[in-house]
Amino acid sequence: MVAVSALLAAVAAPLLVSAAPSQCYNWKNVKVGGGGGFIPGIVFNPTEKGLAYARTDIGGAYRLNADDSWTPLNDTVNSANWNHWGIDAIATDPVETNRLYLAVGMYTISWDPNNGAIMRSTDKGNTWSETTLPFKVGGNMPGRGVGERLAIDPHSNNILYFGARSGNGLWKSSDYGVNWAKVSSFTNVGTFKPNASDPNEYMQDPIGISWVTFDENSGGSKTVATPRIFVGVADLGSSVFVSSNAGSTWTAVAGQPTGYIPHKGVFSPSENVLYISYSNGGGPYDGTLGSVWKYNITSSVWTNITPPSPSGDIYFGFGGLAVDRQKPGTIMVTALNSWWPDGIIWRSTNSGATWTSIWEWAGYPTRNKYYSVDYSAAPWIYDPSATDLKEVGWMMECLVIDPFDSNHWLYGTGATILGSRDLLKWDASARNVTLKSMANGIEETAIQDLLSPPSGPGILLSGMYDAGGFLHKNLDTAQTLADQFHLYFTGTTDIDYAGNSPLQMVRVGTQLQELAASNDGGVSWNKIYASNNAQAGTIALSAGGDIMVWSPSNGAPIRSQYTNAFTAISLLPQGSVIASDKRNNTVFYAGSTNQFYVSTNGATSFTTTATLGIATQVFKIVPNPTTAGDVWVSTSDGLYRSTNYGSSFSKIGGPTVGGHFDLGAPKTTGAYWSIAGFFTIDGVSGVYRTDDAGVNWVRINDAYGFGAADANKVAVDYKVYGRVFVGTNGRGIFYGNPSCTSPPPTSSTTTSRTSSTSTTPVTTTTTTTTTTTTSSTSSRTTTTSSTSSRTTTTSSRTTTTSSRTTTTSSRTTTPSTTTSRTTTTTTTTANGATQTHYGQCGGIGWTGATTCESPYTCQVGNPYYSQCL
Ligand SMILES: *[C@@H]1O[C@H](CO)[C@@H](O)[C@H](O)[C@H]1NC(C)=O
Ligand SMILES: *[C@@H]1O[C@H](CO)[C@@H](O)[C@H](O)[C@H]1NC(C)=O
Ligand SMILES: *[C@@H]1O[C@H](CO)[C@@H](O)[C@H](O)[C@H]1NC(C)=O
Ligand SMILES: *[C@@H]1O[C@H](CO)[C@@H](O)[C@H](O)[C@H]1NC(C)=O
Ligand SMILES: *[C@@H]1O[C@H](CO)[C@@H](O)[C@H](O)[C@H]1NC(C)=O
Repeated sequence: MVAVSALLAAVAAPLLVSAAPSQCYNWKNVKVGGGGGFIPGIVFNPTEKGLAYARTDIGGAYRLNADDSWTPLNDTVNSANWNHWGIDAIATDPVETNRLYLAVGMYTISWDPNNGAIMRSTDKGNTWSETTLPFKVGGNMPGRGVGERLAIDPHSNNILYFGARSGNGLWKSSDYGVNWAKVSSFTNVGTFKPNASDPNEYMQDPIGISWVTFDENSGGSKTVATPRIFVGVADLGSSVFVSSNAGSTWTAVAGQPTGYIPHKGVFSPSENVLYISYSNGGGPYDGTLGSVWKYNITSSVWTNITPPSPSGDIYFGFGGLAVDRQKPGTIMVTALNSWWPDGIIWRSTNSGATWTSIWEWAGYPTRNKYYSVDYSAAPWIYDPSATDLKEVGWMMECLVIDPFDSNHWLYGTGATILGSRDLLKWDASARNVTLKSMANGIEETAIQDLLSPPSGPGILLSGMYDAGGFLHKNLDTAQTLADQFHLYFTGTTDIDYAGNSPLQMVRVGTQLQELAASNDGGVSWNKIYASNNAQAGTIALSAGGDIMVWSPSNGAPIRSQYTNAFTAISLLPQGSVIASDKRNNTVFYAGSTNQFYVSTNGATSFTTTATLGIATQVFKIVPNPTTAGDVWVSTSDGLYRSTNYGSSFSKIGGPTVGGHFDLGAPKTTGAYWSIAGFFTIDGVSGVYRTDDAGVNWVRINDAYGFGAADANKVAVDYKVYGRVFVGTNGRGIFYGNPSCTSPPPTSSTTTSRTSSTSTTPVTTTTTTTTTTTTSSTSSRTTTTSSTSSRTTTTSSRTTTTSSRTTTTSSRTTTPSTTTSRTTTTTTTTANGATQTHYGQCGGIGWTGATTCESPYTCQVGNPYYSQCL
């Protein structure tokens, strides 16, 4: 009997395993404001007033609201369909204006294994259906600003055409985008490659078909398929083709110019004219020659209407092109790209016979500027003191005029959307339009690191491509120039703080030798000139703040103490994930594949310690912020914890795949840190949180997908329980707060997730820190010029003073014993010093000063943290 019962129980147990419970969360963007990335396309619906959409290359699409803000259209995109945040084309239905279509996919090369899709919505993008295409779509490929290559027949709106990349030709749907078939009669599929001699496959894939434009005036009936259709193709030979029989046969339009790529083909219905902008590059960064033409459909006559350059010399192509449907003959066009002194926009009110430009030379170096700037909606984007100030913009591939309002215009740049509601001032005698930031609600930054600091004025620090990163003192208002990490860097890839001196921070950037330090919690930064030729990657700062370990993207990890030159470290392979113990100044951790490494000599050398299961990748090492030797590691084989300085690890039950994660404020006083991040649990990938060191988990990402999980970054708020920050690769930063109580733990899932825990005693260090400060001054001038894969920024900056504070510490150790899940900590009295504004002044494990300099007082944030405020 007994034996039989035991057997039945053993068989039954696995059936109790179910998906981890969910807790509802309220997620929204941490507001950076103003976009922060390239806007390749904006379209207005021609028949519904005020309806417009914008697309991005890596962060999805948005819909315009009446108050000039934008609403994101699909935040459910997750790891399974991450490439759907690359939008290569957008089409809004002129007949049934609720219908909206997107051509989605990120890359047409090996970087993206997935085919593209046509997404279709019948409610302006609130909900979607999709048809997977039998080829890839390249929302973040060269030529992503041409278009639109997806178009809806204005007479028979069941018919759509999509112009593919990579030689895949022209495709047609006759059932509102559900089924698609290749248009076999369209044979000129585009031979132009961005750079066929570049070894990178990214530059070798043909851009294909640029745009599809219907002549809505053609055809007797407005309810059968429009007969005359123009198609632009990325080709240096004939590039504009026409069908006069609703797509049955096609011919090259006679008399057309050749030698350039047609970027936009815009129909002017009242004039029966097709306007075309041309560039010798595919865009969006390039273009050194180009032209603008009009094709008079009535007379079949081509006319070169290229606007004159302010300098008399064309050194750019042409990109964005718009017609004012309210004012026949009023057209606008943008330069692609006038990098210096600024972008150029032209306007004509006589069908291109004559033009005026948004600025003119008035005797070098003076310019007449026929605009004023208003960056109040995104003040960080505009730095009036910059030596290379671009007010008009760059990468200007799209410009549109509201078909119902001649004053309302929008255009995309490499960083934002500009425009205004006073465009007709251009035509007034005092020509002076407003260039206003019109990208409120668009959050397109590509986040590389997030840090919720123990102290200082910041709630959050972010590192990102292009915009550098920010010290976020608030979460809901647009960032300011003062809080941007704009000095020295174009992109920040990692930030770390010193555990025993948390106002001390370091960060590394995307370009060679980008390394900077702060002594005030990220308010001010000084460049460190000890960076050898390292670049990007990650940085770890020792608990005392004197030792840096840098794992750059271009070499093996290196080490520096007191900002001296970096030196090699034995053993650590290139690409190692690194971390510093947050309490013990001599201890650093590293991981690569399934190998864990520990240094106990200030990163002079590392030794191998434990192996991490069958991991092929380490994602993140997060040491306990207050207990030395307690360290968590997420890997492709789940989550591991060591409580003995990395000597041995226990695998945590639940997560089978790890990702970026963090430790933050505990649920209740004295409880262990709450932990949250990207994990796969019971086969479901998402953002999960545990409040009991990994025994029970709840999924907290609600309906949000956050794109590719392995590209995302996580910070768990150090002071506010439950608040989790997620940094995405193209949809900015989100923060979430619990919006209902946590579901109760279920015994079945608890049982299935509990695994053996280490019984090795751990050491809790108690430190006494004395600080001496030395300061050195160096002087030099740096010129930084950077090209990133998403936007290009050319900047020149002058650096005059770099001062770096070094800290030396002496310590005493008091060993104590804890179990793996209960942390016993010792609080010692202060050493008599006073703490500065924003500094830590108390909390479990805190051994530094507990009194604050005048006029500040020590205020309790949570059991682990009190701060001088
Ligand atoms: C978009 O949203 C819908 C829900 O409306 C979802 O079913 C779909 O998978 C989402 N994904 C993409 C890529 O659009
Ligand atoms: C094309 O790529 C080659 C090889 O990288 C490079 O030398 C050349 O300058 C590139 N051409 C252009 C026009 O960028
Ligand atoms: C197009 O050509 C017709 C016929 O020659 C002419 O009447 C019309 O003015 C032209 N339109 C434009 C915008 O040039
Ligand atoms: C346009 O207005 C701005 C801001 O008032 C001013 O700086 C600029 O000089 C004006 N331009 C012209 C041509 O009047
Ligand atoms: C730091 O860790 C090392 C190596 O485990 C240990 O020898 C040392 O005593 C620790 N120092 C302190 C101050 O706890």
